[in-house]
Amino acid sequence: MNTFYVTTPIYYANSLPHLGHLYTMIVADTIARHKRQQGIETFFLTGTDEHGINIERAAQKAGRTPKEQADYVVGYYKKMTSEFGLDTDHGGYDIFMRTSEPFHYQGVSELWRRAAKAKTPKGNDAIYKGHYEGWFCAACAAYKTEDEYAKPKAAGEPPTCLVHETPLDRISEESYFFRLSDYAEALLALYESRPDFVRPESRNNEVTSFVRGGLQDLAVSRLRTAVSWGVPVPDDPAHTMYVWFDALINYITAIGFGNEERERVTGFEKFWPALHIVGKDILRFHAVYWPAFLMAAGLDQPRGIVAHGMWVDPNGRKMSKTLGNTVELDVLNRHFPIDAIRYFCLRDMVFGQDGKFSYEALIDRTNSDLASGLGNLSSRTLTMISRYCNGIVPSSVISEDKLLLAKRSGVDTDETTISGFIEHARDQFLQQFETLAFSRSLEIAWSIVARMDKMISDSKPWELAKDENQKQTLSAVLYRSAESLRWLCVLLYPIMPTATLEIWSQLGLADSGSPANSDPAKLMWGELPEGTAIGEVKPLFPRIEKGKTMAEINGQEQETGAAGGSVHGVHATEADAVSTSPNAPQTKPAPPMQHATEADAVPGTEGVTNFIDITDFTKVDLRVGEVLTAERIPKADKLLLLTVDIGEEKPRQILAGIAQYYEPEQLLGRKIAVVANLKPRKLRGFESQGMLLAASVGDEGKPVIATFTEDVPNGARLK
Ligand code: MSP
Repeated sequence: MNTFYVTTPIYYANSLPHLGHLYTMIVADTIARHKRQQGIETFFLTGTDEHGINIERAAQKAGRTPKEQADYVVGYYKKMTSEFGLDTDHGGYDIFMRTSEPFHYQGVSELWRRAAKAKTPKGNDAIYKGHYEGWFCAACAAYKTEDEYAKPKAAGEPPTCLVHETPLDRISEESYFFRLSDYAEALLALYESRPDFVRPESRNNEVTSFVRGGLQDLAVSRLRTAVSWGVPVPDDPAHTMYVWFDALINYITAIGFGNEERERVTGFEKFWPALHIVGKDILRFHAVYWPAFLMAAGLDQPRGIVAHGMWVDPNGRKMSKTLGNTVELDVLNRHFPIDAIRYFCLRDMVFGQDGKFSYEALIDRTNSDLASGLGNLSSRTLTMISRYCNGIVPSSVISEDKLLLAKRSGVDTDETTISGFIEHARDQFLQQFETLAFSRSLEIAWSIVARMDKMISDSKPWELAKDENQKQTLSAVLYRSAESLRWLCVLLYPIMPTATLEIWSQLGLADSGSPANSDPAKLMWGELPEGTAIGEVKPLFPRIEKGKTMAEINGQEQETGAAGGSVHGVHATEADAVSTSPNAPQTKPAPPMQHATEADAVPGTEGVTNFIDITDFTKVDLRVGEVLTAERIPKADKLLLLTVDIGEEKPRQILAGIAQYYEPEQLLGRKIAVVANLKPRKLRGFESQGMLLAASVGDEGKPVIATFTEDVPNGARLK
């Protein structure tokens, strides 16, 4: 029998899930549902990556054992999968894999043993003992080479990780190495012989050029004295396996590798190889290290590795707990239907590329495509069937003698035109879906919605209903619309399981199969039985009131930002440090902001006396910035020209009217507060791309720059 195996990455058990993690799950879940629709026996894995120094540290901070820490985080992941309909009970994953499971230890040890006995393609031992000397990022769980870290700011300090902006650990110890350098040719041959092994193509090129650049051997163990929370190296328990070695192998231990009992229950032989869905940030581990480990163990390569892009904040920075810019699941869950979130994630993010998230965009999409689009088509069709046809799906046949009348009312009397259109759209939809171009496939599905909407507006069933002679035309229009809805249910089920099952049942089809196991490729036009009694018509996607919802979200985000953003302070978000209660009345005037004007480079001391709503405040994007350079501008004695790093790719250029009070040198390296979303403006030929905050003191309004007494990363949000 045809089988299929799809995996998400297993999530680090040190911090709580956010939109980024949910997204990976949604993609894998959508693919799994699509396969199941086709009658393919599918195994869908997700889970948690529980070992390593980062989890050990998180546990220590929270006063837990590492296992307790993992249990705690797993609780949140299970909450996410249940609330968002991704668990087994909702037709989602088949296993929630945990690397702390004893059967995983067995499988990993077996693979290590095999690799330890193996020779590389160049005839050397695949694993050898040596000495590791270098830098390690606990958050990435990765060794860092010189081009992967930022040099220390002061002598004696460690360098920092470019991804997490946190200090690296110096490691100098005995270690086992995996002889990755001997696998470069074999890997390149693999990529060449299987051009779709790594997708999308741009990622394939990236991986290929990385390997072409030469590979270094990989340290695959740590001394137990340094990292004790992990799988011991077989026959040498003084060493703990490197967490990525242990984590990647979960994909096969989960289905029984190295454990006969599990093999019987799930079946390594039956399901392997898998399609791995991963974020582009962890592509190298999956497309370089993992295939090499599998080669050493003599096992088949994965079916493929698919890398998606990152959800980034409006400034283009990857959403992560460490940077404090995550979209919290509780907020999403409280304000949006699950299917709207799934739809948005797949429609708005071009698969493989990064996508900017904003609640406004999510609301707009939900309202336009779901409330006004699919939801409206469904409710108007079903309401009209209920009103004009006594709730019974009518016949689509227009007899010869009524054809002319039908034509006159703007209805295409040739049913094959519509069936031809929808079949073509289905084929295109599936073609795009197979290449994981979800956004494009959804656009195509929505061309069906648009076509049906147009048919209804052109033919005006409410007018037809008044004319006895147009009964057949009316029936044909309503049948076509209802049949298109049935098709849409099947096409869209993997993306929106809840809404499509609901439409299916409102169409009166609850007892005749399910979109969950209808193969879209086998849809035939006209199979909606005439005479079907439709179910109760209920609204599917109520319109979301933007202003009200945004106000609620902004209020709520501030509350959860402080409480829910971290696991007991493991990754306290920077924004937490300055978050204030959204409800506290603003009794003090806000400090004036230093945005230079030609006329008045030093602002006055006008105080704000009226209260503003929290939504007004949240319109201002305030960020922590670091002054990189500061200089005077010739012939402008009040202005300083600053370049300020606010965590974006390029530093901002900001003009500030503070030159009479600050020497440029005083400002270098200073952390300041910057209004990041102020419209850029030109002053004295220089563009000012933001504004810094300062207190305005005394009658003359002497500016005193707002600064931070604690260490905060550039780009952290003030709220
Ligand atoms: N534990 C490793 C994976 C081991 S797999 C053998 C890991 N865990 S993670 O929790 O940090 O990330 C899990 C997945 O979530 C990754 O695919 C990552 O790309 C994804 N995301 C985390 N933040 C994300 C965004 N901001 N946007 C999209 N996906 C992101 O890495």
